[in-house]
Amino acid sequence: MSEIIVIANQKGGVGKTTTAVNLAASLAVEGKKVLLIDADPQANATTSLGYSRNDYEFNIYHVLIGTKKLRDIILKSEIATLDLAPANIGLVGVEKEYYDAGNTKGRELIMKKALAQVKTSYDYIVIDSPPALGPMTINALSAANSVIIPIQCEFFALEGLAQLLNTVRLIRKTINPRLEIKGFLPTMYSAQNNLSKQVFADLRQHFDNKLFKDMDEELIVIPRNVRLAESPSFGKPALLYDAKSSGSIAYQNLAQAIIA
Ligand SMILES: Nc1ncnc2c1ncn2[C@@H]1O[C@H](COP(=O)(O)OP(=O)(O)OP(=O)(O)O)[C@@H](O)[C@H]1O
Ligand SMILES: [Mg+2]
Repeated sequence: MSEIIVIANQKGGVGKTTTAVNLAASLAVEGKKVLLIDADPQANATTSLGYSRNDYEFNIYHVLIGTKKLRDIILKSEIATLDLAPANIGLVGVEKEYYDAGNTKGRELIMKKALAQVKTSYDYIVIDSPPALGPMTINALSAANSVIIPIQCEFFALEGLAQLLNTVRLIRKTINPRLEIKGFLPTMYSAQNNLSKQVFADLRQHFDNKLFKDMDEELIVIPRNVRLAESPSFGKPALLYDAKSSGSIAYQNLAQAIIA
C-alpha cells in the first residue's frame, strides 16, 4: 500500500511545489516507486517535470470528474520510478462541481477514490496542493496518511498556520482519523538572515518534535538555493540538474528521513 503525503500550506509561494517535486524525485532515486500528483490548477509541479500544456491531453481534472481513470492520465518522468499525474488550469472546474454537490455527496472523498485505483502500485504518493484551504486541499488531506507543512523562513511565516492546523484537526475528526502531521519543513532558510534564524527558532520552540532530522540527528532545513529555483525552468528536479547543490542535498536528506 502507498503512503500518501500531502504538501500543504494555504500561504502562497512558501515552497510547496519545490518540496513536492524534489521530495518525490529524491524518494524515487532512493529506489521507491513514486507518483507525484499535481493538484494545483497552476500546474507548477507538472511544468517542473518538463511537461508543457500541449504535451498531454488529460489531467487530474478528468479523473476527479470521473471521465478518466487515474492510470490513464499518468505520465513518465526522466526518473524511471517517478510518475506524474499532471494538472492544468481546467482543474479549477472541480471547485464548481464541489460546491454544486452541496454537503451530501462525499465531495471530500473524490481524490481518495481516485487514489484507490493505484495505491498498490506505488510506495509513495506525493500530492502538491494549491495555496488555498479549498476543495483540492481538503480532498488531498482527506485522502492522505500525512501532511508536510513547508514554512518559509520569512516574515509572517507562522501567520495562517493556526487556520491550517484547525483544518487538519477538523478533517481528522470528521473524514480522515488517520491523518497525521508528518512534519514542518523550514524552507528558503538563509543563515545570514536574522529573520530566517528567528523563524527557525520559533519553529523549534513550538514544534520541535515535528521537525525532520537527518541521519546525524541534525534538524533538516531547506536552504535558500538558486539551483532549486532554476531547475524547474529546465524541467528537472534539482537532483538531475545539480545533485551536489545544497538544496538538492537537503531534499535527499528529507527523503532518507522519511524512508527511515
Ligand atoms: N529553497 C529555495 N531556494 C530558492 N528558491 C526557492 C526555494 N524554494 C522555492 N523557491 C522558489 O520560490 C518560489 C515559490 O516556490 P514554490 O513554487 O515551490 O512555492 P509554492 O508554495 O508551491 O507556491 P504556490 O503557493 O504559488 O503554489 C519559486 O520561484 C521557487 O523556485
Ligand atoms: Mg505551488
